[in-house]
Amino acid sequence: MKNAYERFVRPLLFSISAETAHRFTIGSLRAASHVDLALPALKLFQPAASRKKLFGLNFPNPIGLAAGLDKNGVALPAWAALGFGFIEIGTVTAKAQPGNSKPRIFRFPEQNALINRLGFNNDGADAIARRLSKLQRTGRWPEVPVGINIGKSMSTPLSDAIADYLYSFRLLREFADYIVLNVSSPNTPGLRELQGPDAFSELLSAIAAKNLITRKPIVVKIGPDLAPAELDLIVSTCEANKIAGIIATNTTIDHSSIPAGQDEQGGLSGAPLREKSTALIRQIVARSTIPVVASGGIMDADSAREKIEAGAQLLQIYTGLIYRGPGLLREIAEALR
Ligand SMILES: Cc1cc2nc3c(=O)[nH]c(=O)nc-3n(C[C@H](O)[C@H](O)[C@H](O)COP(=O)(O)O)c2cc1C
Repeated sequence: MKNAYERFVRPLLFSISAETAHRFTIGSLRAASHVDLALPALKLFQPAASRKKLFGLNFPNPIGLAAGLDKNGVALPAWAALGFGFIEIGTVTAKAQPGNSKPRIFRFPEQNALINRLGFNNDGADAIARRLSKLQRTGRWPEVPVGINIGKSMSTPLSDAIADYLYSFRLLREFADYIVLNVSSPNTPGLRELQGPDAFSELLSAIAAKNLITRKPIVVKIGPDLAPAELDLIVSTCEANKIAGIIATNTTIDHSSIPAGQDEQGGLSGAPLREKSTALIRQIVARSTIPVVASGGIMDADSAREKIEAGAQLLQIYTGLIYRGPGLLREIAEALR
């Protein structure tokens, strides 16, 4: 049976372009984040607490907001009020950038999927650090863990990628409960090459060298399109560099679930990504004790249970929220009890 969001809100949001709907939703949640009277209304969706400790952090429940929805960190109080057990903002890049030209988000309702080629449109590390600092000063900082996901600026050549990550890391680490190194978005040319053995190892050790005092948990977000041997190397490099966890996975470049005439360039998310992403979790868990955060095709109670049974410690949702609304949080939380 459809929930109230699916019956009443989704048809309205889906009647306008995906990016306009996104802007409207983020704008509303941003406004609600500044109004004390608005937040209690959002709390109606909150699931019951089911606490979890990971990375030395306390999560009120294991269901998090995946990166990309709140790239600029403008609505942290609202996400917490909705009941997310943790919030990941970003991807943030060292330089502010507009992203690719529009349209760049596409819905596929029959497949319960999205394709996006946003290309890390964001305000840049400096502006986001100022925004987060202000939020801390005004006492509205959420009580749930906040992760900050960082990536490479589009205009920075791949050979200077590490300096770019380090710039964002230095500026943002003080606000983050954990930092995510995103090496897996398909929409920044060359970015996924950072998953290759030499570049990946260099990036992790450069970050580790700058993390000796702050000691923030460093998490790596990987793509679903890796061959088993590539994944093995990534996992062992993560272990060698004391990486706290792996987020599996980002969007896929495999569009075989989309009819050819409707296909768009970009990363595919949602239901068609579910199995591929779960298979990667199983592979990681079979060979390592490194904690896994599941992301990819969590659209309902079943898909959430599948990720936990595969060995994931925490979950993140994005496309599921677009299709199922905030009621999805309680649906998943109840299924996991
Ligand atoms: C429109 C859109 C934008 C995204 N932007 C980012 C991003 O900036 N950084 C990132 O690490 N992942 C990004 N993602 C990937 C999601 O965080 C998530 O890993 C992926 O969509 C798979 O989960 P899902 O099937 O629940 O959507 C984005 C996804 C979508 C649909």
